[in-house]
Amino acid sequence: MKMPINRPYFRLGLRIAASTSLIVTGILFLVTILTVPYPLSILIPAIGGAATFISVYIITVRLMVNRIARAVTTLRGFQQKLFDEEKEPATVPRDELDDIYSELLKTSFTIEKEIHRLNRIENYRKEFIGDISHELKTPIFAIQGFIETLLDGALEDETVNREFLRKAMRNVNRLIGLIRNLMDISRLESGDMKPEKQVFLLFDVIQEVIESLQLKAGQEQVSLHFDDLDRNLKVNADRNQIRQVFINLIENAIKYNRAGGSIHIGLKPFIRSDPKVTVYVRDTGIGIEPRDLRRVTERFFRVDKSRSREKGGTGLGLAIVKHILESHDEELTIESKPREGSTFSFTLSNAERVLG
Ligand SMILES: Nc1ncnc2c1ncn2[C@@H]1O[C@H](COP(=O)(O)OP(=O)(O)O)[C@@H](O)[C@H]1O
Ligand SMILES: [Mg+2]
Repeated sequence: MKMPINRPYFRLGLRIAASTSLIVTGILFLVTILTVPYPLSILIPAIGGAATFISVYIITVRLMVNRIARAVTTLRGFQQKLFDEEKEPATVPRDELDDIYSELLKTSFTIEKEIHRLNRIENYRKEFIGDISHELKTPIFAIQGFIETLLDGALEDETVNREFLRKAMRNVNRLIGLIRNLMDISRLESGDMKPEKQVFLLFDVIQEVIESLQLKAGQEQVSLHFDDLDRNLKVNADRNQIRQVFINLIENAIKYNRAGGSIHIGLKPFIRSDPKVTVYVRDTGIGIEPRDLRRVTERFFRVDKSRSREKGGTGLGLAIVKHILESHDEELTIESKPREGSTFSFTLSNAERVLG
């Protein structure tokens, strides 16, 4: 690799050669002045000094100039965010200059990796902010519209004023739900919401969730059922987070169901020594097309935006489920048939595992 060092001559080489030849000339002069007659006593030190200067200059140039030039070029590359392609010097380090160059390449590699990482975070942040603003806009403009209409006279109209206030309230509730989910997802994605694992009765958690969602299910004319479920089964996980997983999955099973539909919650068959058990939430709802199946756990992805909005969805429920289960090292599986229904199942660590 030819490297321009941007100098007509090698200054470090000149300085080393000049100081060495000065010492050599001095010593030769002291010796010759006492032993040989003039003009030899002047000529010998002068020739010796010149020869030393030339040879030392050539040696230092050969030993150093190329490697220093390469290091300078690599460093200049940093300033323009260009990183050396050649990641490691080919030879085993012979001296300190090789060491310096090798460390420089390692540094360049680390900086490059770090820049890539920061760019990725920055892109993610931009995309997230874009998504959030978009999601906030809809309910805020809706609230603005209702309030404006009320101020423009609808407030005095008994037939519509309550209805408009109710609609505004529904959008306020959507905003609250969205903000709550956003806080969860940002804490989950930044790794601030680590699971605090404990041993608990799985049945209790599912029962709590079902009780809290019974009213909603009734309004949508959907029935909730327990399948065969060992009431004494204990699992090891973060109780609150697993509760959130059940809430999100069962809420979806209610929202994306049909009148007269049903939801079954149960455990796949297992034996006591199994390290993992699999829980499922199965519905008789609208189902998901195969092309959308992989995307439903993405943030803000919704198959039918208007249906999700109308039912108070934020498009974050399954993304939260996915993050919680990932941070638990548990697996989520989604099976679905359009117009027939979906089954969301996930593994949990069996705390009653009998070893041996
Ligand atoms: N049980 C289900 N049946 C059919 N579609 C579903 C089901 N659960 C989720 N989906 C689809 O996945 C999308 C994303 O779900 P989610 O992240 O919970 O967002 P949200 O429910 O707020 O719309 C939903 O909008 C819906 O299209
Ligand atoms: Mg949801």
